[in-house]
Order: sequence, then structure tokens, then C-alpha cells
Amino acid sequence: MLNSIKKTTTFVHHILKPKIQKENIVVDATMGNGNDTLFLSQLVGNTGKVFSFDIQSIALENTQKKLIDHKLNNYDIKLINDSHENLKEYIMEPIHAAMFNLGYLPKGDHSIITNPDSTIKAILSVLSLLKKGGIISIVIYYGHDGGEAEKEEVLNFLNTLSCEEVTIMQCNYINHNNNPPIVIFIEKNK
Ligand SMILES: C[S@@+](CC[C@H](N)C(=O)[O-])C[C@H]1O[C@@H](n2cnc3c(N)ncnc32)[C@H](O)[C@@H]1O
Repeated sequence: MLNSIKKTTTFVHHILKPKIQKENIVVDATMGNGNDTLFLSQLVGNTGKVFSFDIQSIALENTQKKLIDHKLNNYDIKLINDSHENLKEYIMEPIHAAMFNLGYLPKGDHSIITNPDSTIKAILSVLSLLKKGGIISIVIYYGHDGGEAEKEEVLNFLNTLSCEEVTIMQCNYINHNNNPPIVIFIEKNK
């Protein structure tokens, strides 16, 4: 049960959880410190597959540590040190879900951020691999330099997608200060 909407990650996990089953194939497009990779791995179990991407090797190190701490080292989790825009070089099969957390690595280098071009390319690639009924979550953090531009470009791009192909929902905090994150869910209709 969802007991609070205050923490964005808790809310996103709550929506995704019933959509992801054991044996599913899923993507963490922005691995960071591995919180979403851990969440996805626990849902798909050791019979599923997780593909996680980050351009920073420190993200892979942090995530690997987290997975070992949770004793998931024998799970099929591919930690890939590459940009998510190249994800089709690594994933050939249909996927059930994907997560994006845009912005910079928390407790890391704040100048290394996601950028609109590669983010949009990655969303398009994920959409082409996503099964009918599959889901994508995108959390847009935009308080940093470059964040506002990425937010605008990603939202404009999402506005161009056909409602016959995908259903897109945007969730906003109304009374939070300091650029609270925007949460997007995309569900594939066919
Ligand atoms: C907000 S953090 C992700 C947090 C993460 N989901 C977690 O659970 O800790 C954004 C991450 O995206 C990564 N990133 C930036 N550009 C990227 C790209 N083109 N492809 C993949 N990852 C990228 C950054 O290095 C950073 O680690």
C-alpha cells in the first residue's frame, strides 16, 4: 500500500510494482546509485533480466556494491557503462518496463547531467522495444543548470506521441517549492 506521496521514488515504485512480474525484462536507463536497479531486480527475480545504463563508472561501482549487499550477485543484471541512447546495441528482445531518472547523480558530480537529445533517443528506443501494456516512468529533475531546457524538450517531444499508440500521464507537486520533480508514466497501448 502507498502510505505517502511525499517521496517521489516511493510513488513511482508503487505505480510500477504491479506491472512488473518475475521473468520480465526491464531497463534502468539512468542507473545512478542503483536504487531503481535494485527495485527492478527484486521484482523480476533471478529468472528475469535487468539492463542498467550509466555513462559514469562510479554509478556502476555504487550499483554493484548495492546488489552485492542485497545478495543479488547471481541475478541476470547487466550494468552497462554506456549512454542509454545506445540501448538497442545491447537489448534485442521485447521489454516490459523502463525507468528514467533525469538529472545528475546524487552525491556525485553535478555537472554530469542527462541531456535532451540522448534522453529522447533513448525514450524512442525503449518505446520500440516495449511490449503492449508495458510501462515507462520518467522522473524529471530540473532545478540544475540545463534542467529546465531538458524538461521543456522532453515534454514537447512527449506531446507529439500519438494517443492511439501510448497513454501518457504527468504528475506534478502543486505546493512544493524549489522545482519539485515531475513524474511521467507512459503506457504502450498496442
Ligand atoms: C538522477 S541520477 C539517477 C538516479 C538513479 N536512478 C538512482 O536510483 O540512484 C541520473 C543519472 O543519469 C546518468 N546519465 C547522464 N546521462 C546519461 C546517459 N546519456 N545515459 C545513461 N545515463 C546517463 C548520470 O550519470 C546519473 O548517474
